[in-house]
Order: sequence, then C-alpha cells, then structure tokens
Amino acid sequence: MTDIVNTSTQNNKLHGISGFIMFKDSTCFQYIEGYREDLSQLIQNIKADERVDDYTTIIQGSLETRISPEGWYMKELVDEDFNQRFDQVYNKIKKQMKEYLV
Ligand SMILES: Cc1cc2nc3c(=O)[nH]c(=O)nc-3n(C[C@H](O)[C@H](O)[C@H](O)COP(=O)(O)O)c2cc1C
Repeated sequence: MTDIVNTSTQNNKLHGISGFIMFKDSTCFQYIEGYREDLSQLIQNIKADERVDDYTTIIQGSLETRISPEGWYMKELVDEDFNQRFDQVYNKIKKQMKEYLV
C-alpha cells in the first residue's frame, strides 16, 4: 500500500492528477481528478493492475475546480471513518458537478 501511494504520488504529480485514497481490509476507495484523457489512461492502468480484482466507478463527471487541497497528488487518508468520508466527498462532488456521467 505504501508502494501504491508512493508511485501514485510521483506519477500523478507529473500528470496533473490529484486525489486521495483510503484502504480498509482488502478494499480501497480512491478519488481522482484531472484532465479527462489523463484520467482515462490512469483508470486503464489501475484496471489492468494485477493487484486489482474488481474495479467500480461510483461517480464520475466534470468539475469547474478541483476539490482536493493543493499538494494532494494521492493523499492517503488513514484513521478516517470510511463511510463518513465517502459521504462527504460524494455530496461535495454532487454539488459541484455540472454533469454526471455515471
Ligand atoms: C488501488 C490502486 C490505486 C492506484 N492509483 C494510482 C494512481 O492514482 N496513480 C498512478 O499513477 N498509479 C496508481 N496505481 C498504480 C497503477 O495501477 C500502475 O501500477 C502505475 O500507474 C504504473 O506506474 P509505472 O508505470 O510508473 O510503474 C494504483 C494501483 C492500485 C492497485
């Protein structure tokens, strides 16, 4: 998991991608934002990653501005309440999104 966070932080910084990730048992919840083409490529990589068994997009759309704070290239959130954090992000995204694709 440290590997994932380190690689992601380096790569995402290069590709202008930001977001955060949370791990719980063998499940992971990740939020990513950036330009569409960069995100498509990243999603393809993650889906093809042998460490990933199952990938689900929960919500996807376009934003005027980023939600992640400056410097969160792939911030690992630990000791957070998974469900609470998920609801916070989901509601924030829903409020700010112009269109939903999923
Ligand atoms: C749960 C999970 C999340 C990941 N998130 C990212 C990410 O945000 N950015 C990234 O570059 N790679 C991420 N990866 C790794 C990619 O699947 C892939 O290994 C990586 O992009 C390849 O980078 P490299 O070509 O520099 O080795 C993630 C992998 C997993 C398993």
